[in-house]
Amino acid sequence: MSEPEVVYLKDYLPPAYTVETTHLTFELAPEDTHVKATLRMKRHPEREAGVPLELFGANLDLRAISLNGEALSKSRYRIDGERLIIDDVPDAFVLDTEVVIAPEQNTALEGLYRSNGMYCTQCEPEGFRRITWYPDRPDVMAKFTTTVIGDKATLPILLSNGNPIDQGDLEDGRHFVTWEDPFPKPSYLFALVAGQLEVVESYFTTRNGRTVLLQLYVEPQNLHKTEFSMGALKRAMKWDEETYGREYDLDRFMIVAVDDFNMGAMENKGLNIFNSSAVLANPETTIDAGFQRIEGIVAHEYFHNWSGNRVTCRDWFQLALKEGFTVFRDQTFSADTNSAPVKRIEDVAVLRTQQFAEDAGPTAHPVRPDHFIEISNFYTLTVYEKGAEVVRMLRNLLGKETFRRGTDTYFERFDGQAVRVEDFVNTMADVSGIDLGQFMRWYEQAGTPRIDVAEEYDAERQEYALTFRQHTPATPGQVADSKQPLHIPVRMGLLNGRGNPIELAVGNERPGHEMVLELREAEERIVFKHVAEKPTPSLLRGFSAPVILNFPYTREQLAFLVKYDVDGFNRWDAGQRLAQEAIFDVMHAIQAGEAPTLDDTLLDVFDYLLKTPDRADRAVLAEMLQLPSEAYLAGQRAQVDIDAIHDARAFVERSLAEQLHFHWQALYESNVTKAAYEPSFEQISHRALKNVALSYLCATGDEDALALADQQFKTATNMTDTRAALTQLVHRHAGERADAALKAFEARWSHDPLVMDQWLTLQATQPHPEALDRVKALMAHPAFSLRNPNRVRALIGAFSQHNHVNFHRADGEGYALLADIVLQLNKSNPEIAARLVLPLTRYQRLDEVHQQLMRGALERIRNQSLSRNLYEVIEKALA
Ligand code: TRP
Ligand code: ZN
Repeated sequence: MSEPEVVYLKDYLPPAYTVETTHLTFELAPEDTHVKATLRMKRHPEREAGVPLELFGANLDLRAISLNGEALSKSRYRIDGERLIIDDVPDAFVLDTEVVIAPEQNTALEGLYRSNGMYCTQCEPEGFRRITWYPDRPDVMAKFTTTVIGDKATLPILLSNGNPIDQGDLEDGRHFVTWEDPFPKPSYLFALVAGQLEVVESYFTTRNGRTVLLQLYVEPQNLHKTEFSMGALKRAMKWDEETYGREYDLDRFMIVAVDDFNMGAMENKGLNIFNSSAVLANPETTIDAGFQRIEGIVAHEYFHNWSGNRVTCRDWFQLALKEGFTVFRDQTFSADTNSAPVKRIEDVAVLRTQQFAEDAGPTAHPVRPDHFIEISNFYTLTVYEKGAEVVRMLRNLLGKETFRRGTDTYFERFDGQAVRVEDFVNTMADVSGIDLGQFMRWYEQAGTPRIDVAEEYDAERQEYALTFRQHTPATPGQVADSKQPLHIPVRMGLLNGRGNPIELAVGNERPGHEMVLELREAEERIVFKHVAEKPTPSLLRGFSAPVILNFPYTREQLAFLVKYDVDGFNRWDAGQRLAQEAIFDVMHAIQAGEAPTLDDTLLDVFDYLLKTPDRADRAVLAEMLQLPSEAYLAGQRAQVDIDAIHDARAFVERSLAEQLHFHWQALYESNVTKAAYEPSFEQISHRALKNVALSYLCATGDEDALALADQQFKTATNMTDTRAALTQLVHRHAGERADAALKAFEARWSHDPLVMDQWLTLQATQPHPEALDRVKALMAHPAFSLRNPNRVRALIGAFSQHNHVNFHRADGEGYALLADIVLQLNKSNPEIAARLVLPLTRYQRLDEVHQQLMRGALERIRNQSLSRNLYEVIEKALA
């Protein structure tokens, strides 16, 4: 295949022509939808006259094109790949086009497509060009008016952005609705929906007394799953008024749930489109974590109305400008709404497990990439999650109030504009007076910085010194020597021998019990004065920067921090480090052919936590009692032995289960509740503790424990408890019991695809060697479909990301399966294919045998004709 074009940030030029108004007319039909576009355009003031006009399009059948009402002959324009070029245009003109597209054939789910007979769109980042010829780039912002025409019987609901301004009946049983969006927007925020949908309505009154109509459109069978999201939307609207002073700006806010969707949801102006998995919830069908995920996504998309829509991105390199900021906003919303420490623990676990792995692999890139082949490949953990961490660091550096002044100024200065990361950071620098020049490197430098910390204590002078050395490892395209020191906020405190915080004294400063150190140099030494005894440092509290920080803690010190630190996050983190060391001890023993034993300190800490439960709130305790995941543990090793990690973790889990059996039993019993289900924080933490206890009880493989799981499965009244019990039965390989429960679950839920996704996932993630054959068999099950991204993620994604021992089977069959599926999806849905393949690209730290097998699978993919998406990922992985 010919090499695809690379796009560079440094080549940015404003568009030669911008669009003032966009009028669209859709005549909907599955195989031949007609799209007429009327664009009122004019030359960009910064570009000279006479430059050719450039429009983008893909898979369009062009039927007519005219300029200022005059049809263009073939000699006046040319089509070159995805570009349509008209050499000769005046400074201001009207362009009319008509194209035909086939939504029914659109399996890529970009542009206009059909999902269960319903029409919907996904235009971010470059899907609009599959709808009509257009300057499809975010710095072109136009006012849209859209007329949607469709069959009245089969498409009673016709939606687009903004407000309906006209509607009526047409001949042949058709009808139309015309929508007008008063806010200029880039084409990626365009949306259209048509289908047989039910609507749930409610209202929100803004702080200025305006009434907003809230509508949630779903297929009829999902009406019982709308209540929670409607509530979450109102909570988000209120929170954004209180926390950021942001008010909603249209008279209605619509959300539509669709089954086939590549990502979680999309913030189209006034008409958010959601993956049904990211909006539909009900206690019987949805686990607690599902409710919380949905609350976060509903809020995320709503928050984009300001951070993304009112102030948008100049170009796609600036993606983190809207995504990093909006993820930060949804994280803090969830923290305020539920448990702040638990939210932080969960977010950091994702970051350290998945984003750090991305940073350490062949697809590593800066928060703001400087080149790409396919921008869809950059909706990554680095842009989203590390992007959010960078915004969080800004708040750490500025303080809450100054940060809020910064966001107020940013929204005011850039409202209605398409801007860059610099505009955001410079605004923060302006309002605070802090020099953020060095801070900009966080956006430009890829890789996870390491900080090694050494201590010295001078008893005579009563001085305690910490030396911080930072460096960032090489990443593709950025050699180690090119990496510059970063501006890093390290929140910290010191504890004395009784576990009490020490009053800090640095130079002439007396910051209190806690301070934020600002590292700027490759090496820095900080001296604390008047320290009467050698303290234990608590570093990087709340994970104040996305770095790997190493301090040579003894195990006693880690146990001490678990018990006494005031920072909930660091208490959890100390426990995780201790567990990690205990697991690696066992791993080394197994590898050396010796009999492993459980570390006493870890056992003591668990014993302490189980006896002293009120020292942590229940939800934090549930986190503290869980061992680090296999994926996280693998990320801590320079050389990864997948099976040894699995066996060692299982040994530690079983040892804790056996030696603390009585406590687990008690924990289970004391957290059983009879109250009617609510996804409230209080109840969620009880269920979390109960199900952690169940997991340890079942880890012994005891008949009694499996009977308890079986009983929980049979009597549960909510999906959280049902799924936790079923997972134990299947993952602990409970034979007959597991088979019977899986059958019962299937019989009860085969009508609900989102529930069946969970059924697929828990089978795909079982550690037993049977897993691969089970996955293959399930691919033929009616609940599975390669056409639906949720099904693919539930079965194949879960297997390759969360079942390490089986994905990395020594015979390479796990890799072969993934490669086969990726090649099929390469043709039907390139975005999903390029995402799904990623586990195959992470071979660098495995042994030679596994590396060869993985590269072999990648090479087999490379030999086929690839989409741009997959091409870019595979080339990086094999470079
Ligand atoms: N902007 C969406 C978000 O809220 C991301 C998104 C939705 C997306 N659908 C997509 C990105 C399809 C790429 C392709 O994060
Ligand atoms: Zn987003």
